[in-house]
Amino acid sequence: MNTRPRMLELKSVYKNFGGLQAVHDVSFGVAPGSIKAVIGPNGAGKTTLFNLISGNLNVSSGSILFQGREIQGLKPHAIAALGMARTFQNINLFHGMTALESVMVGRHVRSRAGFLAGMLRTPATWKEEREIREKSMQLLRLLEIEEFADVEATSLAFGQQRAVEMARALATEPKLLLLDEPAAGLNIYETAEVGRLITRIRDMGITVLLVEHDMSLVMDISDEIVVLSFGCKIAEDVPTAIQQNPEVIKIYLGEDEEAVV
Ligand SMILES: Nc1ncnc2c1ncn2[C@@H]1O[C@H](COP(=O)(O)OP(=O)(O)O)[C@@H](O)[C@H]1O
Ligand SMILES: [Mg+2]
Repeated sequence: MNTRPRMLELKSVYKNFGGLQAVHDVSFGVAPGSIKAVIGPNGAGKTTLFNLISGNLNVSSGSILFQGREIQGLKPHAIAALGMARTFQNINLFHGMTALESVMVGRHVRSRAGFLAGMLRTPATWKEEREIREKSMQLLRLLEIEEFADVEATSLAFGQQRAVEMARALATEPKLLLLDEPAAGLNIYETAEVGRLITRIRDMGITVLLVEHDMSLVMDISDEIVVLSFGCKIAEDVPTAIQQNPEVIKIYLGEDEEAVV
């Protein structure tokens, strides 16, 4: 029995949509400072699981603990305030904002003055505004998109937009970062780049839980992998063991070839 304190712990989580069991008796933990991946065919329940963890959906039964505290029933903003950030499966950047401004929006969640005061630019907020700008630039630098700070975010290449989204999520200073298909729509070079950035985020001490379809990325960067099929957890192990797991191979062989392990 592993008694190491968990960053995140799911205990027998169920989610039904009417008669459909999207998540069925799923339990697993995420160790602090690790990268954990959730994989499985389309419709396996991966995004639903993320929505349960981030508070965008409520569990039908079971419990979810974040840093030892029960979070089911809390609203997404309350969970975010506890130190959890996420990105979505579809890119979700605002039109008309530069890369830097997009990250600053994330940062304002953490600031004392808040977003509105920042917009009103009262003298008391000037200093804070400058700090937010500086911190946001640091994040752009960290994710190697500093040169695009003043470019409209939605006009960037897909890979760079993903990096802006990750920087925006990091601006809230999370302890746990949830990434829903960070490599979706990216070419192999951009995917490798995103993998490198995720590893860098983990090396900063931030725990990462990701859902991802790209097997080479998952196998490269994950410390542990959970496999879902029809809402059930069918395996949980290190990448080398998952690659050789007969049940996992079987469910992937039934899918389209791009998803084969
Ligand atoms: N809001 C919802 N209402 C009803 N059914 C849903 C809803 N969200 C997801 N589902 C269903 O739950 C199952 C799991 O979906 P999802 O979590 O999106 O899978 P994945 O992300 O693994 O592809 C699917 O059968 C999907 O159609
Ligand atoms: Mg999904």
